[in-house]
Amino acid sequence: MSAKYHRTHHCNELNRTHVGSRVSLSGWVNSCRDLGGLVFLDLRDREGVTQLFVDPAAQPELARLLHEVREEWVLAATGTVQLRPEAMANRQRATGEIEVAVETLTVLNRAAPMPFHLEDQAVSEDLRLKYRYLDMRRSALVPNLRLRHRLTKSVRDALDSRGFVEVETPILSKSTPEGARDYLVPSRVHPGTFYALPQAPQQYKQLLMVGGLERYFQIARCFRDEDLRADRQPEFTQIDIEMSFVTREDVMETVEAMLAAVMREVAGREVALPFPRMSWQEAMDRYGSDKPDTRFGMELVDITPALATTEFRVFRGVLDAGGVIKAIRVENGGEASRRQLDAWTDTVRLFGAKGLAWLKQAEGEIGGSIAKFLNHTEKAEIRRRTGLQDGELLLIVADRPRVANEALGRLRLDIARSSGPLPTGCFHFLWVVDFPLLEYDEEAGRYAAVHHPFTSPLDEDVARLETEPGSVRAKAYDIVLNGVELGGGSIRIHDPVMQQTMFQALGIGAQEAQLRFGHLLEALRYGAPPHGGIALGLDRFAMLLAGAASIRDVIAFPKTTKAACLMTDSPSTVDPGQLDELHIAIRREEADPEAAAGLVPVERR
Ligand code: AMO
Ligand code: AMP
Repeated sequence: MSAKYHRTHHCNELNRTHVGSRVSLSGWVNSCRDLGGLVFLDLRDREGVTQLFVDPAAQPELARLLHEVREEWVLAATGTVQLRPEAMANRQRATGEIEVAVETLTVLNRAAPMPFHLEDQAVSEDLRLKYRYLDMRRSALVPNLRLRHRLTKSVRDALDSRGFVEVETPILSKSTPEGARDYLVPSRVHPGTFYALPQAPQQYKQLLMVGGLERYFQIARCFRDEDLRADRQPEFTQIDIEMSFVTREDVMETVEAMLAAVMREVAGREVALPFPRMSWQEAMDRYGSDKPDTRFGMELVDITPALATTEFRVFRGVLDAGGVIKAIRVENGGEASRRQLDAWTDTVRLFGAKGLAWLKQAEGEIGGSIAKFLNHTEKAEIRRRTGLQDGELLLIVADRPRVANEALGRLRLDIARSSGPLPTGCFHFLWVVDFPLLEYDEEAGRYAAVHHPFTSPLDEDVARLETEPGSVRAKAYDIVLNGVELGGGSIRIHDPVMQQTMFQALGIGAQEAQLRFGHLLEALRYGAPPHGGIALGLDRFAMLLAGAASIRDVIAFPKTTKAACLMTDSPSTVDPGQLDELHIAIRREEADPEAAAGLVPVERR
């Protein structure tokens, strides 16, 4: 205990009950002020800030030392706690009533001038990412990391108490089809072959079920080379779960219990169980999204029946081609400007709609871009179906159901977000169930799995797998929180014959199936139990609990949207000798002098 940086308290601990005690604190210089000869220094550690006080008249040596001290130097101080004069108390701070009259002060380390002012909110995120360890000192990052820690611990406790066993699965693994590109790792020992970093431990967790583990979980790192957004990182963490001898209900009930425990322990919230459920079809019809944000209304309304006999050219064409006409009602939308309407039109065009029509009502009369094309009955029927009132606006898209739903679903979110912040303090959990099993991929000219190829079809739909694959629903479920896809899972196929049928429906031939998934097909032959599971995005959950805007805010060392780490400057080139050992040659574009000089691999630019 003789170390000069030994601490008796942390910097958020001392208050009037400690007055008169002799204490030792260590931390960083938050700020230093010389006020009329008295010197005040704010010392900061992980927990908070405490004011140190030196009277130069009494301690000229210390005062001289303090004049040298700069922002972010590391100090150890001992002194006596004293009450501040009443007028000097800072009620915002836990330690604001006291200060420590310094007796000894040790400089543990100096700091170079900071590359940016740590509290400056205007600093670019790039600069913060480059100096992530400095950003951490004063931003919300440390509280967020502590919240994430509590979240992970709470998940582990909840699953442990229900008999789940945490198992680590390989990082050097084999390509899994989760829909993204793989990160590949070349093998030195086996020239020309590659490991894939797991996009998820999907096949391993199924193999653990074949192995008889029955209840598995893992706080699992996953790697996906895909386009990044605010809620996507190239490496992220899943709460990965798999169970044997279960139905969908069992998995959903387990997840609900786990989430309720986490909400209680981490957010201090009681959530009502069971969570509401909605079929995928209903979610698409009412919200135009498979991850509906149910914190607000503005639902999509089908006004096709009101316009069944319309003569308006645009709508007629869409209806004759089997399309639908859908609308959202915007309260207070009656005032929307031309420019605003044009901007909304651009939004729906982005999602494939050909246009946006609008109607509004004032003094009981319906006007708007297409009012002149509608007769009295049609207008009355539209009003009846949508509940349109004076001062409100209807935004209308006519198209194929998929396009109309998606375009209006996006518009709905845009309008809600731009008309004020959505409530952050509330947590709307929702299960979306009965996803389609397959989705036709126009480009590839074949069906692809909506979830993944190991997902079981609904029993009542199996018969249509070969005749009408697009209509088959899956034993799949997504858990949605405040419009964010928090997790997804399914009951798996445990019958090898069924798995082969599924591969056929996906256009994966027997040979390819053998090559890519032979190990799984083989395992299913030896008495695989019925099983199913789910994976939840831990980063996304932490983001929502922290009220953060991006998952970067809850990850210690995140990557940029270009998948780079600005702090360590990775990815980076490697020594040619390392490449030789890996039997790898980099193709260089001779035309590019930088690349030709070996500075940047072609793939990285
Ligand atoms: P899925 O691909 O739906 O399912 O992923 C599950 C959850 O992981 C999170 N997630 C991500 N989070 C951050 N960055 C990313 N790039 C990213 N990609 C996904 C999401 C998502 O809901 N093996 C299946 C699960 C199963 O069937 O059990 C799987 O991985 O929150
Ligand atoms: P037009 O006669 O093509 O100029 O279209 C008349 C109105 O219908 C304009 O306000 C267009 O934005 C709108 N419109 C065009 N196509 C669609 C569509 N598919 N859905 C909704 N409105 C549309």
